[in-house]
Amino acid sequence: MDLELEGKTALVTAASKGLGREIAAQIVAEGARVAISSRSSENLEAAKQYILDVADADGDAVVTVVCDLSDSETIRPAIEGGIEEFGGLDVLVTNHGGTKPRYFSEATVEEFDEHYTSILKSTVLVVKAALPALEESNGSITHVVAATAREPPEGLIFTSTIRSGLFGLSKSLANEYASEGIRSNCVCPRSIMTGRLESKTAHTAQREGITFKEALEARESVLPIGRLGTPEEFARTVTYVASPAAGFLTGAVVPVDGGWSRGAF
Ligand SMILES: NC(=O)c1ccc[n+]([C@@H]2O[C@H](COP(=O)([O-])OP(=O)(O)OC[C@H]3O[C@@H](n4cnc5c(N)ncnc54)[C@H](OP(=O)(O)O)[C@@H]3O)[C@@H](O)[C@H]2O)c1
Repeated sequence: MDLELEGKTALVTAASKGLGREIAAQIVAEGARVAISSRSSENLEAAKQYILDVADADGDAVVTVVCDLSDSETIRPAIEGGIEEFGGLDVLVTNHGGTKPRYFSEATVEEFDEHYTSILKSTVLVVKAALPALEESNGSITHVVAATAREPPEGLIFTSTIRSGLFGLSKSLANEYASEGIRSNCVCPRSIMTGRLESKTAHTAQREGITFKEALEARESVLPIGRLGTPEEFARTVTYVASPAAGFLTGAVVPVDGGWSRGAF
């Protein structure tokens, strides 16, 4: 299937590692150029090389943009600068650095503020910065959220409350901008093996006094599909949802979670 991404431009936030980096690599492999952002220029340079190798692409296919999603003042100029380098934007993918595990009883009001800033407010600022270019291109917005934002487990209060706001934001954007030709969707990962999941598994093993392998098996055992997902599997879904090939898909929430989500919708 032709995803019709050849010659297009994309921007992926929080893309120096893990899911964001893999999404950028798949988009470049489809013939697009991509701007990747994160807090660290060093991490971004390493990610750029990884993406160019995976996608077998020329150096100008990847642009790096230092942008800390916790720093509201600098987000718009950083994102607008990245878009200016390409002279337009067809595909925006919003990804984030993650949330701290907390029960409501232990979470402080300051931590709620921090998560609002780095997850929800940052997405608003990134979308505001990208909208003029997306209106020009009839482009797409795809938000990386989390399956746990749809079905809150215990001890993830910031995902349950603040990250779930991305569903409302995405649906509202889908409704408000459909007539401008802009689509907006959410893709929800769960148990995709990235560096982040590896360290979370190591932490669980240490806390529960079990081996890393046992902690990994426990994660796998709650997935109907019986194994963890790969970043490539997740990124392929995002790349399709974001591409013109998914032109009639908007306002949707797509889980990529090995069957972890139990609800029918
Ligand atoms: N993997 C999964 O199964 C899974 C499941 C559910 C939800 N998620 C969510 O999906 C997102 C990506 O997960 P991942 O597994 O790919 O994580 P990861 O491997 O830890 O990558 C996180 C990325 O976010 C960047 N980042 C962190 N804080 C940032 C900030 N303040 N501003 C800008 N960039 C920042 C990091 O880059 P720098 O350090 O270079 O800034 C890195 O590129 C996270 O929000 C995670 O919670 C993942």
